[in-house]
Amino acid sequence: MRQAVPVGVEDPALAVRLGLPRSGEGEAELLLRHQGDRLVLAGDPKRHGHPLAVDFVAGRAAHRRRFGGGRGQLVARACGLARGVTPSVVDATAGLGRDAFVLASLGAEVLLIERVAAIFALLEDGLARARLDPETRDIAARMALVHGDAARGLEALVARGAVAPQVIHLDPMFPHRDKSALVKKEMRLFRTLAGDDPDAPRLLEAALDVATHRVVVKRPRKAPPISGPPPRHVIEDRTSRYDLYVHRRLDA
Ligand SMILES: C[S@@+](CC[C@H](N)C(=O)[O-])C[C@H]1O[C@@H](n2cnc3c(N)ncnc32)[C@H](O)[C@@H]1O
Repeated sequence: MRQAVPVGVEDPALAVRLGLPRSGEGEAELLLRHQGDRLVLAGDPKRHGHPLAVDFVAGRAAHRRRFGGGRGQLVARACGLARGVTPSVVDATAGLGRDAFVLASLGAEVLLIERVAAIFALLEDGLARARLDPETRDIAARMALVHGDAARGLEALVARGAVAPQVIHLDPMFPHRDKSALVKKEMRLFRTLAGDDPDAPRLLEAALDVATHRVVVKRPRKAPPISGPPPRHVIEDRTSRYDLYVHRRLDA
């Protein structure tokens, strides 16, 4: 599966399952290893900053769960969560699962699809820990995860995840012009790993075929829409924008 930078894996069983080399084999620049209770992805700190992990229980995710603004948040509005309406969502660009976790916190069943093996492994680990914590257990139970490329075979991936694709959420990577100024340190490693997503138009096409009600695409505010059919609606806040492609109304 796609991987922009070589990654080695410390745990031999995990290496086999992910189809990645074990640490020590090959030219790995980054290493997936256990640190305390979690799986982290780490590289040379000078080059890659802090190790990366997924944490749904504490930190930013916990803060947003408690004080985040509920269904008024842009991602919730874009996905059509409203009073009495809670669609099921396929997040076909799962990343670190932040958007998916917000939607699941608000009651939606969410399927996360991630194609980069190392990011998938971090998500799997974060979800496993969230399932053990009393504060996040119920939210994590609404989240399913599959490893695969949503631009190819989306229908089969959705069937494997067993979540109805009423809404498909897309947040492909967007190329930044000045990497050092615009990319926060903590996201540098993530960007190195995921690269840009030049096949976003193909992903949009697949999503439009599979979603039953709507496809929503997160974009930086000033970025052009993904090439393809024009969005039906656009909603935005101070930092980002959602382009909405609507097939049908989401009814209560
Ligand atoms: C900008 S990040 C998403 C961040 C995410 N919304 C969050 O809240 O953490 C984009 C992610 O989508 C993944 N991705 C892009 N195209 C994909 C595809 N066709 N299938 C599966 N994953 C994809 C990338 O590997 C990357 O991890």
